[in-house]
Amino acid sequence: MIVKSYKYRFEDYFKEEIVMKEKLADRLEEMENKELGDLMRIIGRDDLISFAGGIPDPAVFPTAKLNRITKEVLDEKQEIFYQYSSTEGDDLLRDYLVEFLTKGGLNPKREELIVTSGSQQALDLVAKLFLNPGDKIVIEKPAYVGAIGTFKSYQAKIKEVPVEEDGLKVQLLEEYLQGLKEKGESIKFLYSVPDYSNPSGARLSLKKRKEVLRLAEEYDFYIIEDTPYSELNYYDQRLDYIKSYDSTDRVILLGSFSKFFVPGFRIAWIHSSSEFIELASKAKQNTDLASATAGQLILCQAGKEGLLGEQIERVAEFYRPRLEAMSEALDKYFPATAEWFKPKGGFFFWVKLPEGFDSRDLLKEALEEKVAFVTGSAFTVDSTEGSKYIRLSFSNSKPEDIEKGIKILGRLIKGYQDLEL
Ligand SMILES: Cc1ncc(COP(=O)(O)O)c(C=O)c1O
Repeated sequence: MIVKSYKYRFEDYFKEEIVMKEKLADRLEEMENKELGDLMRIIGRDDLISFAGGIPDPAVFPTAKLNRITKEVLDEKQEIFYQYSSTEGDDLLRDYLVEFLTKGGLNPKREELIVTSGSQQALDLVAKLFLNPGDKIVIEKPAYVGAIGTFKSYQAKIKEVPVEEDGLKVQLLEEYLQGLKEKGESIKFLYSVPDYSNPSGARLSLKKRKEVLRLAEEYDFYIIEDTPYSELNYYDQRLDYIKSYDSTDRVILLGSFSKFFVPGFRIAWIHSSSEFIELASKAKQNTDLASATAGQLILCQAGKEGLLGEQIERVAEFYRPRLEAMSEALDKYFPATAEWFKPKGGFFFWVKLPEGFDSRDLLKEALEEKVAFVTGSAFTVDSTEGSKYIRLSFSNSKPEDIEKGIKILGRLIKGYQDLEL
């Protein structure tokens, strides 16, 4: 049965009554993700100073080297370049990933890895394997919009636990888990982005990494550790993965080439026990059979030539001045009643607007002045609370545009405040 509100939305999308609606699944009600749709549309516009997309700047892609590698791989591996890959992913790429993750302090085997079509697919596979409708999970508040959308579409019951600068408020998590335990209940998993989280920019401290793992063991749940920003450290060394302390296979690690290298190949990975990887492989067979071969072969060669390591150094130099520019502009132009902290990596600032503001109103005004950002409502299950915040991405704007755009936003916010007085 399609609920009434959905009928309205379908008519809205298709501009006329559509005949199929009575046949469509109930899950569509949960799948609606207007915020993500709006975000993808803003990303496509080139007439804006855009702080909206959490996307890398193509100016930092190692394009010339990748073009050369692409030609060489195509010449040398024509017979497999255009062929299906295996479901688990190209063996050589998985061997490269073993090397990559070993440098990151892990000790994976090839059969403990599966290549996925972006970590967005990894999230979908994990949700498909774990979640029955109504199952309880915990996510960070705020959390990645694409993860919220995925978990909602599998009809999970989502509890949000707030984050602060050093990550999840672990004590609140424990109180929630204890409350459930007293009722004989538990959660299936905790979803966490420990490094420079999207959208909060928070980084889970080492102490808290160990604490959440202890809680996972004590309260019997899994941790989905999603790490697309973990290589984007602009000041400090990277912190250990939660997975590196995991002696009981509680942690399912998701990684991606999208943010620190290039997103266009849509290649990412899951690292977990070989048993879980076998299940993920079954789920992936039913989803897309295999990830695209060409990107896997090119990435593998790029890795072997040391291009990925080089790129990790380059992106830090490239994005640090942008982070600094945004930090300085916020200090200069935003009112003291707004709240934020300066992240140490990743792509995002997460700003709490002064009391009484709704970021959705601010976005309308900002778009008229050709500045875009994402409203905080996209990153929480309850959009009312989230709308007090905005996410500002500094990754895809030059420092001078960052200064210009933040100045405009600051003026709009102060203008509202003056009206209120
Ligand atoms: C936290 C997080 N996880 C996963 C993804 C999906 O990345 P991809 O599918 O490109 O690997 C994103 C993209 O923005 C993200 O921010």
